[in-house]
Amino acid sequence: MSGSIQQPQPVRLGVNLDHVATLRNARGGTAPDPLRAALLAMEAGADSITLHLREDRRHIRDEDMRRVRESCALPLNMEMAATEEMIAIAADIRPYACCLVPEKREEVTTEGGLDVAGNEGAIADAVTALKTVGIRPAVFIDPDPRQVDAAVAVGAPVIELHTGAYAGGEHGELARIREAGRRAARSGLEVHAGHGLDFANVGQIAALAEIVELNIGHFLVGEALFVGLPESIRRMRAIMDAARRHASTPANATL
Ligand code: PXP
Repeated sequence: MSGSIQQPQPVRLGVNLDHVATLRNARGGTAPDPLRAALLAMEAGADSITLHLREDRRHIRDEDMRRVRESCALPLNMEMAATEEMIAIAADIRPYACCLVPEKREEVTTEGGLDVAGNEGAIADAVTALKTVGIRPAVFIDPDPRQVDAAVAVGAPVIELHTGAYAGGEHGELARIREAGRRAARSGLEVHAGHGLDFANVGQIAALAEIVELNIGHFLVGEALFVGLPESIRRMRAIMDAARRHASTPANATL
């Protein structure tokens, strides 16, 4: 290989396994087991496991968090609301990272980003509480410069940009994500992204140089029904890596 060719940093893939638990809970038994899925995801090239412990425990339960934390060697990223209850559970289970998300009981999934700008005091307290126990906090925000600046103000070292509107085909979203990512990176934040990503739409997000991690769940678990979980993850990885390589070739690099 020529010494002059710079290999781009691959984007990390966090695999969200909430919907393995959704399927299990539909019958109330123990299968399919989220821990088994986490171990398979690790073998297939996932860089981390993401689990969302919702207030209503509709999919992941406390025991799932604990078992994955104890028995899967990958870093565990816990998604959670910024409540006292969740911060206490995180402090007990000690995931590697926590991503603070907004949560409404009636929503089907996380519908919008966290309003950090409108709740700076409470979010700053949650960020500090997590840092104090050695957990890396992140905030899940819309690609909005106000929210990026608020993330900096509350001391969050990481943001995750909500890609739901982009995945839904909203005009101008890719540019908003690019700009928010650049703004955050200029302020020294680590930039992640996720929500609604699939084989068809992940490439444009993986190509953004500031984004270092994607968290993807629903599509991967659905695709696993047809091709198996390892293959679903491997294909996603391959698409992400190819998009990154393509974007970083000199002819395609954005200035
Ligand atoms: N990131 C965050 C913060 C989320 O809340 C979710 C959904 O739980 C995801 C990523 C993954 O989204 P999806 O399941 O649509 O891939």
